[in-house]
Amino acid sequence: MSERFYITTPIYYVNDAPHLGHAYTTIVADALARYHRARGQETYLLTGTDEHGQKVEDAAQARGVPARLHADQMVERFKDMWKQLDIKNDDFIRTTEDRHKKVVVALWQRLAQQGDIYLGEYEGWYCRGCEAFYTELQLEPGLICPQHKQPVERLKEQSYFFRMSKYEKPLLEHYEKHPDFVRPEARRNEIVSFIRGGLRDLSVSRSTFKWGIPVPNDPGHIIYVWIDALTNYVSALGGPGAPLYEKFWPHAVHLIGKDIIRFHCVYWPCMLLAAGWPLPRTIVAHGWWTVRGQKISKSIPATRVDPTRITADLGNDGLRYFLLREIPLGGDGDFVYESLIARWNSDLANDLGNLVNRTIGMAKGELAPGGADVLGGPAVRARVAELLDGFQPSRALEALWELVRAANNYIAQKEPFRLPAPERAAVLSTVAEAIRWIALLCAPVLPDSARRMYAQLGLAPDQGETWPQAWAYPGSRPAKAEPLFPRIDERRQAELLARWLPPEAVGAEATVAPPAAIDLDHFQKIDLRVALITEARKHPKAEKLYVLSVDAGEGRPRQVVAGLAGAYKPEDLVGRRVILVANLKPATIRGILSEGMILAAGEDEVVALAALDREAQPGVKIR
Ligand code: MSP
Repeated sequence: MSERFYITTPIYYVNDAPHLGHAYTTIVADALARYHRARGQETYLLTGTDEHGQKVEDAAQARGVPARLHADQMVERFKDMWKQLDIKNDDFIRTTEDRHKKVVVALWQRLAQQGDIYLGEYEGWYCRGCEAFYTELQLEPGLICPQHKQPVERLKEQSYFFRMSKYEKPLLEHYEKHPDFVRPEARRNEIVSFIRGGLRDLSVSRSTFKWGIPVPNDPGHIIYVWIDALTNYVSALGGPGAPLYEKFWPHAVHLIGKDIIRFHCVYWPCMLLAAGWPLPRTIVAHGWWTVRGQKISKSIPATRVDPTRITADLGNDGLRYFLLREIPLGGDGDFVYESLIARWNSDLANDLGNLVNRTIGMAKGELAPGGADVLGGPAVRARVAELLDGFQPSRALEALWELVRAANNYIAQKEPFRLPAPERAAVLSTVAEAIRWIALLCAPVLPDSARRMYAQLGLAPDQGETWPQAWAYPGSRPAKAEPLFPRIDERRQAELLARWLPPEAVGAEATVAPPAAIDLDHFQKIDLRVALITEARKHPKAEKLYVLSVDAGEGRPRQVVAGLAGAYKPEDLVGRRVILVANLKPATIRGILSEGMILAAGEDEVVALAALDREAQPGVKIR
């Protein structure tokens, strides 16, 4: 085991709000990082957001806000979620940050200088959702994208190409020399046969939109969002030569979903080979969660599980345990709320919670030092370590539960409550030591519970962060026993499900975490005015947008670009009085100047315009 560990999550697109799928990857990465920290390794956990590209530009336009503002708002939602889920990331990288762009540009220049990037022409089938080209063979009948189930577009453009074909052989050699480069093995084999099928040069620039990093010396072209995004893993460390990079890059582990293996296991290593930078140590691809059998999708609200709703009721550990235990890391899983509750009741409440509760109850305020090593603790510790080192958290938890059961069985067999005092104390010390070990071993997955177990045993909490060494209970005065995982009975289950079941039951807006509170001062900085729409026409370049002329009582019309085309016809808008954010910084949206924003209800799509219930003159202030 090397002394350092650098683990990354994918950087998430900001076109969509965070949901269970994103939380899954991030929680797994957090648990692995906590494990490696506990083992004393210097550890670095990176997550972040992927903010450029057509997809994000489209999402911003649909909301009628500039891309940068849209990204800023969405980033807060990701950061908030990681905070609520107690993710201990060491950094959060945004691709819109200068520190990132600098490294992307330097990488591009290097590849261009050595002739690995050249200008050519590209024609092909393009899926906006994937931000990628497909061959006809890869598409479903009717030219449908296999991921997004939407028609692809024919795109022809001048484009820069990365000479990926040149790196086919070196990449295959790397795969041969490093059998663990991609896990699980099935994914590795899939990728190796893809590479053997031949690598073509990759189109790495776009000229049909603007939201991204311009190609150095040719700003009409934007660097392909995947080239931009993948570089985050290096840019966040400051790039080659920077101290963090030197320290952590050679120990990189990329945790990703199986949907993005082609980018991580083919494109990225080829880019790195071309740049002469070392390749990551391992890429681990996990499976895909569905929700009650359905793909998580924007258009099916019931699939959009918001993890923070669950953790608000149960704490973080229950969800973490379920996600990590329920499916092996590479496999797919179906998320069913009832299964989460079932695991809570059986593994957490019955097995672990009971063990702690009974022991502390029987201790009667005193746990003596000592304890016999009769429960197989060291063997379990070795097994858990081996499985976590091998990225198999589900099996690691299964192995750990053997110690939980062994301790429970030991109590059942010894019946300490029937024993005379000295013998009872000895049995309870053994069990207490087992609990201490279980707390330390489960802490990466159940950090809060581990702390509580330590506190209930009466041990100092700062002892709860390390990997267990010797089997010797230090002796303690336990606190009052409190159930760690109160059993969820049928009534409570019904209550919880009613609260957790998302949108169509409760209304889509309810799933959105309320934004942080602001001062009145803050609010008063927003200049809201009554405005009369005098003209509405389609935006020439964007289907969902209108270009409006509004009278805000200023003696001259104002032009506002608004994402109302999905919800209103132009003729329905003219003559309407609406609410205008009059002092929003003007922005150019798809080539047209927009001088303000119109208030409307709806998150991604407009549901209804905010209206005045009586006629008011254009320009009247709203407060
Ligand atoms: N921006 C790219 C990644 C760039 S990395 C250099 C992207 N972003 S994404 O927002 O679409 O997130 C994809 C990742 O989110 C998946 O790879 C996976 O880690 C996670 N998941 C999203 N939905 C998921 C499920 N339904 N199930 C499991 N993980 C899921 O792709």
